[in-house]
This record gives sequence, C-alpha cells and structure tokens, in this order.
Amino acid sequence: MKEISVIGLGFIGLPLSLSFAMNEAKVYGVDVNKELVSEINQGHTHHKESFNNLTIQTILNDQIRNERFSALTSILDLPESVDTYIITVGIPVKDGQLVTGPIESVALDLSKRLKKGDTVILRSTVIPGFTNEFFKPLLELSGLKAGEDFHLAYASERIAEGKAFKEFVDMPLVIGGVTRKDAEKAREALTIVTKADTHIASAIEVVEMSKVIENAQRDVNIAMVQQYATMARHMGIDPKELIQVANTHTRVNLLTPGPGVGGYCLPNAFHYLVPKAKELGILNELSISQEARQYNDGIPDKIVKIVENKLQELGKDLAGSKIAVFGLAMKDFSNDDRISPPVYITEILTKKAGETRAYDPAVPTVYPFKDDSAYEAVKNADALLVLCEQEEMSSLDYKKIRELMKSDAFVLDTKHFFKKVCMDDINIYYF
Ligand SMILES: NC(=O)c1ccc[n+]([C@@H]2O[C@H](COP(=O)([O-])OP(=O)(O)OC[C@H]3O[C@@H](n4cnc5c(N)ncnc54)[C@H](O)[C@@H]3O)[C@@H](O)[C@H]2O)c1
Repeated sequence: MKEISVIGLGFIGLPLSLSFAMNEAKVYGVDVNKELVSEINQGHTHHKESFNNLTIQTILNDQIRNERFSALTSILDLPESVDTYIITVGIPVKDGQLVTGPIESVALDLSKRLKKGDTVILRSTVIPGFTNEFFKPLLELSGLKAGEDFHLAYASERIAEGKAFKEFVDMPLVIGGVTRKDAEKAREALTIVTKADTHIASAIEVVEMSKVIENAQRDVNIAMVQQYATMARHMGIDPKELIQVANTHTRVNLLTPGPGVGGYCLPNAFHYLVPKAKELGILNELSISQEARQYNDGIPDKIVKIVENKLQELGKDLAGSKIAVFGLAMKDFSNDDRISPPVYITEILTKKAGETRAYDPAVPTVYPFKDDSAYEAVKNADALLVLCEQEEMSSLDYKKIRELMKSDAFVLDTKHFFKKVCMDDINIYYF
C-alpha cells in the first residue's frame, strides 16, 4: 500500500488526505497545530465538505477506523515507510507582507528525513520562483540533490472550498518538476486521486505563476463587475439581471459581485506576484491587478456607508443604531472566515454603530459580537445586513425576526437571499 504524508491539515490538507485514504493509500497527516491534530484524531472537524452524500466527519471517522488515516504533530515522527510528501502549508499575507516561516520550517524538517528516491510535491500557492529559489535549497540541506537523489515537483491546488472532494478528482492537474521524471513521479502519486486530465508544464515557474494569475484574474473580474453593477444601479437596472444577460454570450464570464472578495486565495493573489515583479523592476506592469485589489478591499467601507445613508434617510445616525449581521464567512455555505469581508464589515460597524450583533452558525471562531441565536442578534435592530448565506438561515422564522426588529428597520441584502425567504412589511435593499 502506498504510504503518503500530507503536511498541513487545513481546508486543503484534511480533505486531500482523506481522498488518498479513500483510494487505498495509507496517509499520515502532519500539522503543527496540536489542538487541531487532537481534534482530527478524535474524528472532529468544522469543515463543510461532503462526498457521495457522506459528510467529511463521516469520511474522517471511517478512515480513522480502517487505519488508513492518522494525524501527527511533527514530520520527524513519520515512519520510514513514507516516501511521498504532499505539502499544503500556505504562505499567509499579513499587511501585504508574505509570511514564509511556516513553509520554510516544513522544508527544514523534511531535509532532516529525506531519503534517496523520495518524492516531494508542493501544492501550496507560492510566489512564482519560490520552489526552485527557496524551497529546493532548504530541502537540499539534506545533502541530497533534487532531480537526482529525490524528486521535487510543484502541482498547484485549484479546488474550491465546499467542492474539495469532487474537485480533487475532476479538476485538471498541472505539474512542473525539477526534471521531467520528477513531474512524472508527482503525476503517478497525484493520479491515485485525480482522474481528470494532467498537464506537465515545461517549468515549475509556469505552474506556480499560472496558479497565482488564475486567482488574480478573478479578483480583477469581480472588481470590474462591481463597477458595472454600480453603474447599473445608478441607471435603475438590476445588476444581477445585467450580468445574467451578458453571460448568455458564450465567451463572456462575468463573476458575481458581493460584499467584497475574501478567503485565502483571491485577495492574496496579487501579493504573491509583487515580490517577483519588484525584483524584476516591473511592478508598474501589474497596475490593473493592483487597482482591482484596492477597489475590492474598499467594498466593506462602501457597504457601511450605504447603511449609514439609509439610516440618515430615516432620521437616525449609525452611532445610535443597532445593526444585525447574518453571515460572517468569506463565502456562502462555508465555515472559512479568513480574510472575510463580512467580518471586516462587522468590525467597522462595531466601531461606528451603537451596537452590532452577528449570527453565523457555521463559523467556529469566537467573536465578541457573535450571537448563537439569530433572534438574539436581531432584537431591536435598526437594520439587518445579509453578508453571506448559511443553510440554517433558510429555516429561521422571519415573521418572528420582523417582530423582533424595530418597526422602521430595513434589510441590506448583499446575497439576494431575501428573494428566497419572505419577510413582510420591511424595506429590503439589494446590494
Ligand atoms: N482553501 C482553499 O480553498 C485553497 C484552494 C486552493 C489552494 N489553496 C492553497 O493551499 C494552501 C493551504 O491552504 P489552506 O486553506 O488549507 O490553509 P490552512 O491554513 O487551512 O491550512 C494550513 C495548515 O498548515 C498548518 N501548518 C502551519 N505550519 C506548519 C508546519 N510547519 N508543519 C505542518 N503544518 C503546518 C497550519 O496549522 C494549518 O492547519 C495555501 O497555499 C492556499 O493558498 C487553498
């Protein structure tokens, strides 16, 4: 049985580990977060993935029970029999700066246990050039040479959270290797799970940069659509219908604007391009991506301004109002609140509004403004903001919610959620 280690057990690493385990591999997951490892080994996860009608919790418990999956806290504790490492530890961005410490420490730990013939596959999203310029030299502290003594490849991870299990199988795979043989070895391992087309690129850098621009172009597309949507609103036409009509063209794919662009991938993409562009002295050539990033970052403030204006029309000010928020995740039906515009909007509101309470049963993070009950959150509210949709929101009693809110309250709905549920006698504005 193939023995694999998946390093990093987050949104990507855990479902990826379980995908290999479901395909007859023995998988050792590694994560430095001791609490997370202990939770996972007890069969618990907050992730919202599912596959073939089984939740990730069920799949995790099945694979622990049949001894195909277990989690550890250190690479150094892995058994000798593991010969393939898949790395899913990311490079977070803090205030525009890339935090490479975690991924470098993975390389250093791996260098202490690499043996001849091993295969290392980096799947994290990285700065173009990172694998060859930074990751490889750290691995080679082992005394072994990539492309000669061990195999090193980069294969971008392209799945979307919420569809992870399905997309690990049917998302085309792109791979670059130090040598062609390295890429082939990575393909051999990864196609244990992936059944889609695979493409071996001429260089690792092609795959690294392709991954980043796949995300950056979505950031630009959304910024552009936000601007068209603003123009449509000023013209009195429905932006959503406008986009649907434009997308009937077979070569047009406008994305859906919402309360901002969030998550680990899209907002970080531009920042991954910056270091290499700076080094090459061509940062100004990325002005479109840069402007899109700034524009998308500004959407939460715009939404707060809309709330402020609507309150003013009612003779109220934000500082004296209570605002309720539904949805804190970075996208619908997700528990991921990393780089989440709904969280940013709520944080701005907590500073500017009299009171701000939020409801999101899927997000496990504890926030001072979060309520477990939607009814508690909306009590006496002057406005309700819908910032992302969660399953539980559809089964709430909206008659009761209306009664709990102030009589002149309004709803600002960035998700067109209130087209699905009914709440009488209240103004609903769609953003
Ligand atoms: N989340 C997505 O939808 C998505 C999609 C495509 C690509 N990616 C990329 O995949 C990578 C992982 O993303 P994610 O969302 O799973 O991140 P995550 O933060 O959920 O998971 C990363 C995990 O790595 C662990 N870690 C940190 N340092 C470690 C170390 N030295 N050794 C072992 N584990 C360590 C962290 O504790 C964390 O649990 C990133 O590069 C991201 O850009 C993510």
